[in-house]
Amino acid sequence: MEELAIKGGKPVRETVLHFVPLEADMTEEEINAVLEVYRSRKLSQLVSEKINEFEEAFAKYYGVEYAIAVNSGTAALHVALAAAGIGPANDVILPPYTFMATANAILHQSSVLNFADVNPKTYNLDPSDMEKRITKKTKAVIPVHMLGQSADMDAIMEVARRHNLVVVEDSAQANGATYKGRKVGTFGDLGCFSFYLNKHMTTGGEGGMIITHDEKLAKRVRSIANHCRVDVSPYPNVPAHNVYWGIGYNYRMTAPQAAMGLVQLRRLDSFIEKRRRNAEYLTRHLKEIEGIEPPYIRNDVKHVYWAYGALVIQERVGISRDSFAEALLAEGIHAEGYCPIPVHLQDAIKNKVGYGDTHFPFDNPLHGEKVSHHRGLCPNAEKLSSQDLLLPVYQSLTEKDLKDVVVALKKVAENVSKLK
Ligand SMILES: Cc1ncc(COP(=O)(O)O)c(C=O)c1O
Repeated sequence: MEELAIKGGKPVRETVLHFVPLEADMTEEEINAVLEVYRSRKLSQLVSEKINEFEEAFAKYYGVEYAIAVNSGTAALHVALAAAGIGPANDVILPPYTFMATANAILHQSSVLNFADVNPKTYNLDPSDMEKRITKKTKAVIPVHMLGQSADMDAIMEVARRHNLVVVEDSAQANGATYKGRKVGTFGDLGCFSFYLNKHMTTGGEGGMIITHDEKLAKRVRSIANHCRVDVSPYPNVPAHNVYWGIGYNYRMTAPQAAMGLVQLRRLDSFIEKRRRNAEYLTRHLKEIEGIEPPYIRNDVKHVYWAYGALVIQERVGISRDSFAEALLAEGIHAEGYCPIPVHLQDAIKNKVGYGDTHFPFDNPLHGEKVSHHRGLCPNAEKLSSQDLLLPVYQSLTEKDLKDVVVALKKVAENVSKLK
């Protein structure tokens, strides 16, 4: 039997393969589209039609009325909450198995974090636990479509509507995913997307989008992301761009970003299909490895695999997820847990690090209720954070890359006795 690389043996591959891409999947078409905008010198929203064009194409892809481009997924979440009127007197429900940005967007509105647990099979917000966590101050919920699989949107929308909650879908990892045939981001009041480098499509390394069916929300999002400028000036001698109605931000996307987004959007479905084929390959082979569980896929969704979220069941494999990942890395496969510290247990949140030297908005007289973020608050997410193992599945992987992943997994699994 071959010696494990971590014990001095030959690794499965010399160059490390990462669980998410470190380079954009782009062609000369994207580069030319961006250069064309640079050559025009019309680089920003005020002077370029590119951003509108990208927004229209994105709205069409999603079958929604409105899409507003911004400069990150975090900005998208923040401006969505701001537009929905979420503030310090409210709390917002979120799952702790997510990226920190989901929580930060809530904190940026000085609102209170209200964590609800996830379903251990799908890794997504559990609608029944969500309902149990609702307080008198709860005004919104952010279901996150983790790793590319839709949350249970029928059940979430049913609870949300019964309790009058605004629903902001965090679709950062699920661009193009569907639930019962309908695309994610179109169920809630607002849907938010990220075009960061390692997402399904990128707008030049950073970028984001908000979609909605609601004209009023769309107008508010567009204005808040542009300094809260008014549409029409109420003053006869002052133009609209010099009149501001609230606390605004500069979250605008640039024209070169939009130009790249337009090309990437046309390629999105083919990216997704390749990811799904890669995932099928991994699932076929993972079934042969004791204790490494392929992700559970609901039968009513189209999973778009931002990453392939396997589980390492320590009792069956014989070693912890972290030890397994360490041995895999030595073999040339970089696989990780998604959030080894679930969001509610992050130092920033446990220590209530707030604005200035206060603990606001964690201790928040406008909200009034004492909240505590402690171990045991969301047991499923806590367990998941020690078991999940994200494997590469992205479209630019070669057949050899995928084969290496499987060979390395099998090699480590068959040799765990040497790691104990
Ligand atoms: C679930 C989730 N929400 C929000 C974000 C924030 O997106 P961005 O990095 O574009 O700000 C990301 C991605 O990074 C994410 O994975």
